[in-house]
Amino acid sequence: MKLIGPFKQIVTLTNLPLRGKLSDDQLEIINDGGILINENNLIEEIGNYSQLKVNFSTAKLETLNSELIALPAFTDSHTHICFGGNRANDFAMRNAGKTYLEIAENGGGIWSSVQHTRTANEEELLKTTLERINFLISLGITTIEIKSGYGLDVENELKMLRVIKKAQTFTKATLVPTCLSAHLKPRDFKGNSQEYLQFILDEILPKVKEENLAKRVDIFIEKSAFLPEESKAFLLNAKDLGFEITVHADQFTSGSSRIAVEVGAKSADHLEATIDEDIEFLATSNTVATALPGASLGLGEKFTPARKILDAGGILAIASDWNPGSAPMGNLITQASILATFEKLSTAEVLAGITFRSAFALNLTDRGTLEKGKKADFVTFKTDNFQNMLYHQGSLKAENVYIDGEKF
Ligand code: NIG
Ligand code: FE
Repeated sequence: MKLIGPFKQIVTLTNLPLRGKLSDDQLEIINDGGILINENNLIEEIGNYSQLKVNFSTAKLETLNSELIALPAFTDSHTHICFGGNRANDFAMRNAGKTYLEIAENGGGIWSSVQHTRTANEEELLKTTLERINFLISLGITTIEIKSGYGLDVENELKMLRVIKKAQTFTKATLVPTCLSAHLKPRDFKGNSQEYLQFILDEILPKVKEENLAKRVDIFIEKSAFLPEESKAFLLNAKDLGFEITVHADQFTSGSSRIAVEVGAKSADHLEATIDEDIEFLATSNTVATALPGASLGLGEKFTPARKILDAGGILAIASDWNPGSAPMGNLITQASILATFEKLSTAEVLAGITFRSAFALNLTDRGTLEKGKKADFVTFKTDNFQNMLYHQGSLKAENVYIDGEKF
């Protein structure tokens, strides 16, 4: 046993509902707390530090000298951090008046990242992916979803997923791979988009399964990518193959979050364009609604209607969408605190959205709260008040990040 503390405050995020709005007075805050880690590296107990010291007198002590608060480590449930190249020019062109879709039509956008990712070798991709993973860990994020989707042929989609699998052997963070071969129909595919989706089902997903490279399948449903009906059929087929589903939904046009719910997706992500009627439909389902404020900030588009989703009883997660195009920043803490100011979210709602609610979107219920039996992943900040974390909008750096009870 190991006792870590004392912490000025521990925000446990326990006993909160999975769905709907939250107020800050619902947060359990343990003052002068300690975190007891057992032999399996799981949380044994959270409580008053002095009391734990008496009750577990044989526990090894990891004593902290500065004033710190502790929170469950964060889960970023939507990223595209395995990619080659850079799209600073897209960013500049958008700011000069071109739209995301116009840039894509002219050979920029996702297709340009596909070309860079295809020419990058596995070592280069692994190196840059690990650098981005380490940046996310430095923010306090220890569970990271990573999508393919810049390969868009058998060889390169598998290359991306193998890189993600390899990255897992170099990091203690949990990586959750997702196959996003349905990001876009590649320009060099001979056939229509429906045929490309069939190609994914026939040629890519069986290999993904065989090599155990991902358990999740994603699709970008949008005018510039895949149409609603063909997407629905594809997702039902992917589900039949045993994959969990997540969807890039309602980013520019509404309608696809309905499909996500209808196929029983674990999450529908983006939702900037979701109409009120569809918010209702989504919010009464078990599909997590994931806001991606980094994409709104990267594109200068409106934010996901997070307030309405929570008020309607939805399960709201917040993720970074870190990618070379629409969301190049990668700082989930900054993004989540900005979303809070524009959408009027409570601290509790934001914290839930980047911890147990985003973990739920990845089907992980063993983390995201600090309580007995949970994974001992937590993050500390040098402050005496947890409110300071969001208040500083990302500029209060994480002091220490613990994974399985060990300082990273
Ligand atoms: O989530 N919308 C589609 N896919 C990504 C963007 C990827 C890119 O621009 O490279 C997104 O925003
Ligand atoms: Fe995305």
